[in-house]
Amino acid sequence: MKRLANKRVLLGVTGSIAAYKAGEIIRRLREQNADVRVVMTQGATEFVTPLTFQALSGNPVHQHLLDNDAEAAMGHIELARWADVILVAPASADFISRLCLGRANDLLGALCLASNVPLALAPAMNQQMWKDPATQTNVQTLRSRGVLLFGPDSGEQACGDVGEGRLLAPHILIESLSEVFKTGSLSGRTVLVTAGPTQEAIDPVRFLSNHSSGKMGYAVATAAMEAGAEVILISGPVDNSLSVAHNIKTIHVTSAEQMMQQAQAFAQKADIFIAAAAVADYRPVAEHNEKIKKSAQTMMLQLQRNPDILATIKRENPWLYAVGFAAETEQLEQHARGKLQDKGVDMIAANWVGKAAAETNGTFGSDNNALKLFWQGGELELGVMSKTRLARELVGMIAAQFDNAIESGRLKPEQRNIENIVQFKSSSKDNK
Ligand code: CTP
Repeated sequence: MKRLANKRVLLGVTGSIAAYKAGEIIRRLREQNADVRVVMTQGATEFVTPLTFQALSGNPVHQHLLDNDAEAAMGHIELARWADVILVAPASADFISRLCLGRANDLLGALCLASNVPLALAPAMNQQMWKDPATQTNVQTLRSRGVLLFGPDSGEQACGDVGEGRLLAPHILIESLSEVFKTGSLSGRTVLVTAGPTQEAIDPVRFLSNHSSGKMGYAVATAAMEAGAEVILISGPVDNSLSVAHNIKTIHVTSAEQMMQQAQAFAQKADIFIAAAAVADYRPVAEHNEKIKKSAQTMMLQLQRNPDILATIKRENPWLYAVGFAAETEQLEQHARGKLQDKGVDMIAANWVGKAAAETNGTFGSDNNALKLFWQGGELELGVMSKTRLARELVGMIAAQFDNAIESGRLKPEQRNIENIVQFKSSSKDNK
């Protein structure tokens, strides 16, 4: 499986004699259908011209931190946000030392600081430079910060020495890089995900909604795809900049009722349902055909409960492994366990919102979050990290728990039978 397909790889090339091998790395990344952008340090351009990498990657090569033209096209922060992973290959001793200090004195250093996606280094240097305690201490420090180290390899070096410090062979580097996107095996499974807010129309120009950005749901859909699943994403209205790979079937809806209809249409073919949407609990009893005009000082808006999509889908399709989210401002565990019970689902991923979220840096729209997972007889805390990484960890746990549930016979895929579905009736509790 091509795990790097549709992945955006930012390849940093630094000043090392092995810089020419980056050409082979780019070629192999493109063979995997990865989207590649190359950033070269000043040192790297002494060894290879940017034109070579531009031709191989099919994209302009980025070199300078303060370059008006480049900033106008894709500025350094935008480039940092664009990447799904950063690979620095070859990584010179000097670059490793600057990274360790958190220097942002060139474009590549600044990008590494400005990005929170996985960062991998493939060191290449003289064997004595690699062995030097300064380099070794830097490498240890970077490892402890979660930076991945690929290699170095050992053998004969360009300078004639023999020892550790050679760039890892490009095909092994690509293999190691694709491991970054391995979250657990969901191959052959279908995963249905809801994401984003819903909008409940009041009149032709107004609606009720909430602050959900959809980022977590989109990250979950991507992580499930990376784990090999076929993914169907039902998305409420989210910012245009949010997107998923084209092989994720995406259905755009506006209201909770539309989300419910689509979820019911696709649930029968799914194995796992992950409800990450922030569904509006209520909608106006009636949508006004014309814009409501202001009159009195106060006005009443009568609302009615929306259906609980998660609870309904699990009840109608009991073989599904159903995962809900719980956004809480207080008593996280109590509310999460309550939802696990009341909605009859298999797992609840709970997170703080509102003031309490400030501690976890996970407010609406943020790129970070933290989750606490609860299931019957277990729980797991996933600390603050980017939503991308968090989604991978969550999907890894869901895949493991799903397998357990099938093996233990708790979930029975053989129940998947249309007749089963129609005989279920909505209970008053969920018929909001
Ligand atoms: N959910 C849903 N349909 C709804 C409401 C919620 O599918 N009408 C799902 C959400 O996608 C989420 C979970 O239920 O996975 C919990 O959502 P949350 O808003 O935290 O809880 P509610 O059930 O709405 O309860 P409350 O607002 O009272 O906390």
